Amino acid sequence: MTVRIAPSLLSADFARLADEVARAEAGGADLIHVDVMDGHFVPNITIGVPVVKALKKIAKVPLDVHLMISEPDRYVDAFAEAGAGILTVHAEAATHLHRTLTRIRQLKVKAGLALNPATPIHHAADVAGEIDLLLVMSVNPGFGGQTFIQRSYERIAEARELLNKAGNNADIEVDGGVDLTNAAKLVRAGATVLVAGNSVFGTPDATAAARALREAALGAA
Ligand code: DX5
Ligand code: ZN
Repeated sequence: MTVRIAPSLLSADFARLADEVARAEAGGADLIHVDVMDGHFVPNITIGVPVVKALKKIAKVPLDVHLMISEPDRYVDAFAEAGAGILTVHAEAATHLHRTLTRIRQLKVKAGLALNPATPIHHAADVAGEIDLLLVMSVNPGFGGQTFIQRSYERIAEARELLNKAGNNADIEVDGGVDLTNAAKLVRAGATVLVAGNSVFGTPDATAAARALREAALGAA
């Protein structure tokens, strides 16, 4: 199983996004994680379609777009058009989840499903065949730099079991509080994509931090 790292721009300098993307890519970033927040599903407001479109022009690796928004079905077409490589929606935010995921795939974009820390993993069971990625949140979404929730290891293992049962070897992504101290353990639990904001862009050298995280993750794969 290949392991990938996805530095999250949430902790980057928003006035210099192109430089920040280049720094992460120089450190071996496999994906660039883009956190879209609407001030409704989560308390924070971040970026939207125009910024994704601008990032698409400069990023060499695919954009991993994490939609923390209510009624995601209203926006998936626009984000696909803007250049998302992966579009992840929250189970808690979508009323017609099957329809939303199917639509994302129809748009030739990889479909991701995110689960908040309090949402049972089995809520993904009935759409487990329709996804390319299952995102196990290891903090409550909304902000960078929060403390990793320890129970997430077990949840990742449960997620892998659920996907195996569905005959789907989709990625399992973990997002929130990921750093050098837990990267290897997360990979051993079954994670294949590690998102990291603060532990990459909150350091003086994002390239070195991304590289170190990638090595820690690959070493455990
Ligand atoms: C949290 C976001 C994350 C965030 C992670 O709501 O979905 O992607 O950027 O940040 P860190 O790695 O700092 O916890
Ligand atoms: Zn995220």
